[in-house]
Amino acid sequence: MKPYVICHSLGSVDGKIKQNIWGYKDHHKYFEEPAAKIKADAWLVGRVTMQEFSSKKKHTLKKGRVNIPKEDFVGQYSTKTFAVVIDPSGKCLWDTNMVSTEHVIEVLTKKVSTAYLDHLRSKNVSYIFGGEESLDLELVLEKLNTLFGIKRVRIDGGGHVNGSFLKAGLIDEFSFVLAPIADGTTGSLTVFEVEEGYGKRKATRLKLKSVKKIFDDFLWIRYMVDKNKRS
Ligand SMILES: NC(=O)c1ccc[n+]([C@@H]2O[C@H](COP(=O)([O-])OP(=O)(O)OC[C@H]3O[C@@H](n4cnc5c(N)ncnc54)[C@H](OP(=O)(O)O)[C@@H]3O)[C@@H](O)[C@H]2O)c1
Repeated sequence: MKPYVICHSLGSVDGKIKQNIWGYKDHHKYFEEPAAKIKADAWLVGRVTMQEFSSKKKHTLKKGRVNIPKEDFVGQYSTKTFAVVIDPSGKCLWDTNMVSTEHVIEVLTKKVSTAYLDHLRSKNVSYIFGGEESLDLELVLEKLNTLFGIKRVRIDGGGHVNGSFLKAGLIDEFSFVLAPIADGTTGSLTVFEVEEGYGKRKATRLKLKSVKKIFDDFLWIRYMVDKNKRS
């Protein structure tokens, strides 16, 4: 069964997601507080975003080939919720198998080294393979359900991970915190980074589910993906 997927993002009126020049104190709350109200068994982020939470220490991986099969691994955990990272080449390093109250699941391709798998096993971090060289995101979602019982996933960014799930047509709902900010940078990250310019792909249409004024002058807008309007 494919879990239900809600993509959650905080953006400016021009769809930018990096807060470098926004000047907010306590900026995490604008993303986190609405996110916490979305019921989900797992949150999922891209490798770049997860590196804000993974180990900052220097870890030395074993040298040479380590005898570990490239098969899915479920580490020991006692949590009910999960932190999932799309990390195709195995770049996140870990001191523990937890981020906050969630058990970490790495989504890998078979490009990763067995020494990296050894690192993950030594920390009891779970991992699944989503493809040989590139990822099949539908397969990834299926495995999250089959191996961990995950029924609802909240995708928490950044722009590239949001964009790849959008392109694959796997998002059911979009939760957008619209900040009262006109960012105005060009070439900086947007909510959905899919591809440059206009190709054959059609944009995804959304249907308004609810809208609420929060933090005085922010809007929390929730949309359903209009599956009938996808080409
Ligand atoms: N405002 C918000 O709502 C919000 C939310 C989250 C994050 N952010 C910000 O966004 C920034 C990071 O965003 P980002 O777009 O640069 O990075 P990201 O989406 O966090 O991570 C992108 C990386 O994830 C991997 N990846 C994602 N989708 C993949 C796919 N389909 N197949 C293979 N690999 C895939 C790739 O890793 P490899 O490069 O290792 O191949 C890719 O480079 C940070 O500054 C963060 O603070 C903002």
